[in-house]
Amino acid sequence: MKIILTFTLLMIPGVVSSISVTGYSGGGVMIRCKYNRGYTANKKYFCKEQWSGCKDQIKTDEKNKWVQSGRFSLYDNTSSGVFNVTIRDLTELDSGTYQCGVDVSLGGDFYTEVNLNVIRDQPIGSVRGYSGGNVIINYKYEMKLKDPLIYFCKSAANQCFNPINTSRAAGWKQDRRFSVQDDRSAGLLRVFIRDLNENDSGEYQIMVKVSEKHSFFSELNLNIKDDDCCVKSISLSAAAGGSVNISCKYPQSHISDVKFLCWRSGADLCAEETSVKESRRWSPEGKIQLYDDREEQLLTGSISHVTEQDSEYWCGVQSDQGHKSFITRVLINVTEEVGVSVTFSTSC
Ligand SMILES: *[C@@H]1O[C@H](CO)[C@@H](O)[C@H](O)[C@H]1NC(C)=O
Ligand SMILES: *[C@@H]1O[C@H](CO)[C@@H](O)[C@H](O)[C@H]1NC(C)=O
Ligand SMILES: *[C@@H]1O[C@H](CO)[C@@H](O)[C@H](O)[C@H]1NC(C)=O
Ligand SMILES: *[C@@H]1O[C@H](CO)[C@@H](O)[C@H](O)[C@H]1NC(C)=O
Ligand SMILES: *[C@@H]1O[C@H](CO)[C@@H](O)[C@H](O)[C@H]1NC(C)=O
Ligand SMILES: *[C@@H]1O[C@H](CO)[C@@H](O)[C@H](O)[C@H]1NC(C)=O
Repeated sequence: MKIILTFTLLMIPGVVSSISVTGYSGGGVMIRCKYNRGYTANKKYFCKEQWSGCKDQIKTDEKNKWVQSGRFSLYDNTSSGVFNVTIRDLTELDSGTYQCGVDVSLGGDFYTEVNLNVIRDQPIGSVRGYSGGNVIINYKYEMKLKDPLIYFCKSAANQCFNPINTSRAAGWKQDRRFSVQDDRSAGLLRVFIRDLNENDSGEYQIMVKVSEKHSFFSELNLNIKDDDCCVKSISLSAAAGGSVNISCKYPQSHISDVKFLCWRSGADLCAEETSVKESRRWSPEGKIQLYDDREEQLLTGSISHVTEQDSEYWCGVQSDQGHKSFITRVLINVTEEVGVSVTFSTSC
């Protein structure tokens, strides 16, 4: 009887299915492996095909919890008959063929073949911000996807903000203090975080769910400081039609960064931007002109033809990767027109 049973199991074909997964170097992927409900009790593993056979990267009989082994983690969800595998800190050397397997001691294992292709990429790295300010994080991804779902998660808290279905969102989609914009034409995803405080510091993940079967993600470190160098908010007053000067200090660590002044219009914190890349040289002439004195760590802006719309600006710095940190809020109280009062006094 036992012999027949063994024979029968060996007859069951091993390969259930095959999936292709793309990841980016420095980031990670999450792969969902389905298995037959009859095998919830068995060990699950993830192995890489090599000339000598399939080499285990992780193997466990733990259920319903994440198990980690180096850069690999596995979660066997016995109530859904699915186990997830994540691989972090990918390099191009990780490209290859893997198997999601169920360890069946009698006879052949069941497995799903996973073909992983890792593309070279620039990691997001570290993003610096200041309490009371805002940041915009840039995430470049080249993959052209139809309807990706995008998640932004705080890693330690295992807390994700509402996923964004980008096919429906041309503009910003917001969840509490977090917004995401998928700029398809620029191949860029922008994550915007408002009203920062030091508790926002930590590791975050931007995850793009490609299909039910797999996702790719990138990790970034958000570093929020309460720097006493710079004021968080400035209030000024200006006469309509006249001009006004704005001066913002910035932290020493940003001396060589590009500086910007953004005009806020409604929900859009940066409806219009002027930036300056060099020290002690005025930006080109326009409604807004900027001057960055790097020795004094002082950004000066001059706004001409002030109107009631010019009520809020933000001074900030931009890193080499294009991440923007909004440091100082500038509120302008626009009073009645200069011209009118001048005419009035002349006629007196
Ligand atoms: C496990 O699967 C069940 C059923 O599909 C699901 O409700 C539950 O959220 C899953 N658990 C985790 C941690 O994903
Ligand atoms: C995303 O939006 C598109 C278009 O409205 C819709 O067809 C698709 O089902 C949505 N995807 C999810 C996962 O909600
Ligand atoms: C940050 O977290 C600490 C500890 O949980 C809490 O006491 C503090 O109020 C928080 N600060 C802000 C600005 O939320
Ligand atoms: C497993 O992967 C699927 C698909 O990416 C995802 O929807 C699910 O939340 C993952 N489960 C866990 C526990 O992370
Ligand atoms: C702004 O600064 C410039 C240059 O220092 C100065 O010439 C101008 O008078 C100032 N404008 C106002 C409105 O203070
Ligand atoms: C704006 O300035 C005017 C004139 O100085 C003052 O009466 C008014 O209270 C100010 N408004 C705000 C919001 O500060």
